[in-house]
Amino acid sequence: MSSHREAAIRRLTTPEIAARKGGEPIVCLTAYTAPMAEILDEACDLLLVGDSVGMVLHGLPNTVGVTLEMMILHGQAVMRASRRALVVVDMPFGTYEGAPEAAYANAARILKETGCQAVKVEAGPTVPATIAYLVQRGIPVVGHVGLRPQAVNVDGAFRAKGRCEDEWASVIAEARATAEAGAFSIVVEGVAEALAREVTTAVPVPTIGIGASAGCDGQILVTDDMLGMFEWTPKFVRRYASLKSDIAAAVGAYASDVRARRFPAKAETYFAKAKA
Ligand code: KIV
Repeated sequence: MSSHREAAIRRLTTPEIAARKGGEPIVCLTAYTAPMAEILDEACDLLLVGDSVGMVLHGLPNTVGVTLEMMILHGQAVMRASRRALVVVDMPFGTYEGAPEAAYANAARILKETGCQAVKVEAGPTVPATIAYLVQRGIPVVGHVGLRPQAVNVDGAFRAKGRCEDEWASVIAEARATAEAGAFSIVVEGVAEALAREVTTAVPVPTIGIGASAGCDGQILVTDDMLGMFEWTPKFVRRYASLKSDIAAAVGAYASDVRARRFPAKAETYFAKAKA
């Protein structure tokens, strides 16, 4: 196992990402662990320690049960193993929607204890004031509009937004308010293409789409989805690997080798040294 501290660290900065508006597409993926962050770092501009970690790694039904401690632990692992990508850590449900002072204390903990460069918040109607509070106090923020997974208990399900035009105004207004509050980028999740393009035109900061068409300034996917770790993935995911079936095949081969006493072989065995 290599030491992650050996290579020089030169990460992309929040102004560098903000300057990519309308330019070279921003490449983003989620990362939760050190080995995965080490692999993704070279190809990605931004690694998001998403609260999707609760569903992907911890088997939760949605992101509502994710805690600040979980985000900090995964954020630390990703920071240790990456050196080039900007790292953003999600603020979990219940850590920023109340008083801005409490949101600041929680966001400051994330930055101090992980070393990450920014936090992400789902920007419902009341959140822009908190974004401004954080940014004015030195905490860079990524907003998140459209389908907001932390609002699943209000919405009743994860449902794409903006297929009917009467949903557009609120999403555009939230994106505008998020940018005006000082967010340096905005994740746009699960919206119809025409709405994604409207949002991207409406704000001066880069939009990062997930299930939001090619009309955004960058793209993000949940890494485990695009690597084929799950049987089912949403329509917007493109699978670049089939890790679940590869792992199942590898584990099956290992199990039959152990049962047939083919593993370990001599090459995989330590032998006592002959006495001198
Ligand atoms: O938690 C997460 O992984 C996210 C992405 C879906 C953008 O917020």
